[in-house]
Amino acid sequence: MIIRYNVQLQSYNSFRTKASARIFCEPRSAGELSEIIHTFPDERKLILGNGFNLFFTEDFDGLVIKPAIRGIRILSESDRFVEMEVGAAEDWDHFVAHCVDNGYAGIENLSLIPGSVGASPVQNIGAYGTEAMDVITKVKMVELQTGNYAAFSNEECGFGYRDSIFKRTGLYVITSVVFRLEKSFHYKEKYIDLSRELEGIPSPTLTQVRDAIIRIRTRKLPDYTLLPNAGSFFKNPVLRVEEKDQLQQKLPDAPIYNVGEGQFKTSAAFLIDKAGYKGKRRGMVGTYEHHSLIIVNYGTDNGREILDFMREVQHETQQQFGVMLEPEVRIY
Ligand code: EPU
Repeated sequence: MIIRYNVQLQSYNSFRTKASARIFCEPRSAGELSEIIHTFPDERKLILGNGFNLFFTEDFDGLVIKPAIRGIRILSESDRFVEMEVGAAEDWDHFVAHCVDNGYAGIENLSLIPGSVGASPVQNIGAYGTEAMDVITKVKMVELQTGNYAAFSNEECGFGYRDSIFKRTGLYVITSVVFRLEKSFHYKEKYIDLSRELEGIPSPTLTQVRDAIIRIRTRKLPDYTLLPNAGSFFKNPVLRVEEKDQLQQKLPDAPIYNVGEGQFKTSAAFLIDKAGYKGKRRGMVGTYEHHSLIIVNYGTDNGREILDFMREVQHETQQQFGVMLEPEVRIY
């Protein structure tokens, strides 16, 4: 395995901010990964997927590991289900396309989400009423501190909204993910925008659903190759009943979804709009004109400018509506 020093990370994060990694490597197997951890036991470590959900504000004085473990293989198959193990470095949307082409159902709603398969459990990616946790049965990993192999069942992953044990602890490097998908498909209405896009199609096929999602996302979300961004910048806030009541006094038309256990989700994009921040720009950073939840980079390579703009949006929504927005992207 090649170990490189002082590597520029600008092309490894979709916000295209500059930072250098003192040490950088791309292990191609769990064995190589374990080896590199044993070679540098005392270095600070950072794990990179395809870099679609993070940006850098300063150089990283340690070891950056970008797993390059590939492969899609079927572990078991019955009349109803197929179980597949997929290498962490496989492109997520590539894997979705592969499943849709083979008639395997369960992740078609997650079409066109940028990133790697290994990142899918870390933040439990989700869209249009589906989350990665719905189809993941097992995650295989190497422990960052010891280099030992480990595997977690779905329950052990501690999944939550855009959250997991991997994100909370930062202690594991995911090497592969096992998914269980269905071999038959019947479209169920889960998300109004998607059903609207599918209007007039009586029973949509997997390919029709995937195509509809690709159309919606292409309309709403900026292309990171033209306008660098990391998708949704903030999480949708989850409020307790008192917080929800307070918000409704200030913004009676705020969308509120009851997510159970006395908790209510509202829309970060809506709050940002109402705070006057849709399409707002400060220097080289701003929110996207067609979707205020997305912060876009108009031409800086300095992550601190993104950080400053993030803080401004947080401050305004907090001041105006009493809701603190938490970033969904990771900041280094
Ligand atoms: N809205 C606004 N202004 C806007 C955009 C949206 O007020 O500029 C309001 C509308 O009321 C709209 C609601 O926000 O109905 C929800 O918007 P949307 O359906 O676009 O979903 P979202 O909550 O903004 C979430 C995910 C997306 C995912 C979509 C679709 C988070 C943080 N984001 O966005 O995920 O694609 O739902 O399911 O949960 C990502 O994580 O990077 C991502 C793109």
